[in-house]
Amino acid sequence: MLTVGFVILTSTEKARIKKINTKLIIIVSMLPIISFGTVGITSYYEITGFNEDQKWTQHTHQVIEQSDAIEKSMLNIETGSRGYVITGNPALLEPFNSGISQVKSQIDSIRTLTADNPIEQSNIEKLTTAIEEKIKISSNMVNLTEIGDVASAVKDINSLKGKRTMDEIRQDINNIKNEENNLLIKRADLTQSAAQNTVYVIILGSLIAIAITGITTFTTYRKIQQNNKFERDNIKLHLETEKLKEIDKIKGELSAMVSHELKTPLVVIGGYAEMLREEGVIGNLNKEQRDAVDTINSQVTKLERLISDVLDAQKMDLKRMKYNKKQFEVDKFMDEQIHIHSKIMDDKKTHFNNSTSEKIRLVSDPDRLSQVFANLIKNAVDFVPVNDGSIEINAQNKNGQVIFYVKDNGSGIPKEKQEDLFKKFYQIDSSLKRSHGGTGLGLVICKGIVEALGGKIWIESEVGKGTTIWFSIPANGISQAESDEHT
Ligand SMILES: Nc1ncnc2c1ncn2[C@@H]1O[C@H](COP(=O)(O)OP(=O)(O)OP(=O)(O)O)[C@@H](O)[C@H]1O
Ligand SMILES: [Mg+2]
Repeated sequence: MLTVGFVILTSTEKARIKKINTKLIIIVSMLPIISFGTVGITSYYEITGFNEDQKWTQHTHQVIEQSDAIEKSMLNIETGSRGYVITGNPALLEPFNSGISQVKSQIDSIRTLTADNPIEQSNIEKLTTAIEEKIKISSNMVNLTEIGDVASAVKDINSLKGKRTMDEIRQDINNIKNEENNLLIKRADLTQSAAQNTVYVIILGSLIAIAITGITTFTTYRKIQQNNKFERDNIKLHLETEKLKEIDKIKGELSAMVSHELKTPLVVIGGYAEMLREEGVIGNLNKEQRDAVDTINSQVTKLERLISDVLDAQKMDLKRMKYNKKQFEVDKFMDEQIHIHSKIMDDKKTHFNNSTSEKIRLVSDPDRLSQVFANLIKNAVDFVPVNDGSIEINAQNKNGQVIFYVKDNGSGIPKEKQEDLFKKFYQIDSSLKRSHGGTGLGLVICKGIVEALGGKIWIESEVGKGTTIWFSIPANGISQAESDEHT
């Protein structure tokens, strides 16, 4: 029969290819989304960074404003106290008093604003000490003026103590402002490089996304095209296979018919040969003529057997072999095999025995099993030595199977040849000079019958020692009631 060497796509495989195509399309459309998503997320974080920078910039401005306010309050204290000492006008105490009351809260505020900056904290500490000193000096001058000791107050002014403290305050405030301005410059640098990075990320990310989209779209297009081609090729191959299978079937049917038609004239030839042999039916033959008719007869039998085998092999291929299962006694069946084949043992004086010791009943096809035995025994006879040949047949019930064997002490079969034995027309020695005749169909037919009856066939052989062919037939055909009768 025809063997087809390529794979046809099943509907599940087609569905699988479709699924792969859909998956590829989804992946391709996802890739640019993922790339742009990455760009978006990165940009988002960069922008959040800008906002943070902006907050810090505002904060720095607040510190600077607060420093200016402190300076202004201190100026009010300075000018208020001096003005009062020089003019004695109590109205000038107003900026002095408001300066004192404001500067305290301004110091607290600037301290809180710069709580995270140790440099600023130490600057503020110094500033606070200077401010306290300045307030002390100015308050002393105001008190002296209030009690009428203007001369001492003026002396204080002239001692320049207050001016020095005020210079110190200005210096401290400048230090605070400088530190904030340095921070501003640093933050501006950071913001600028972050902005630049964002631009790079956006440009690079977009380029990568475009490149990925391009490459994947191209490869996916190629892949889908390949898949479609694969599917088309498979449909074509499927159609061709179907066509070849149909041709093969017709061929099988034709050769079965030809083999069958060959049998009819052979029956007629055999019949006439038989009539010629029998004395007085058509006439009497002399010895030479009878020998010739005997040869015709034996060749007709051979040819009939060959045609039968070819027909059986064809029937097996076309699954048209018929089986008639019935219950039979295996031990009796085995005795019958001895009876049927004992005649062919005579030529080589082969010892032939049945070693079956159990009574077994089996539901199977005894005629087809007999055909298996005929093939195996005929092979064994051909390979055993003349005079010392021995063939044993056996059947036993084992693990739910009836196991049969045909064992001989013939030439044996080399290991490397054993696996080919069940191939059609295979013969170990195919030379014209070989002693064993046949066409190489016997074991193929045996295998076909055994397997069709639910069993298995196998071989054990050693060159020079002999061959045993085993086959099993499932014992589930055995009627339990019948088996019990024998136990
Ligand atoms: N008992 C055996 N001992 C040694 N060789 C064997 C034995 N049985 C089979 N063979 C080898 O296996 C080959 C195949 O056997 P098979 O019965 O299939 O075909 P055949 O006997 O050659 O032809 P056919 O049985 O169709 O007349 C044989 O040609 C023979 O070489
Ligand atoms: Mg044979």
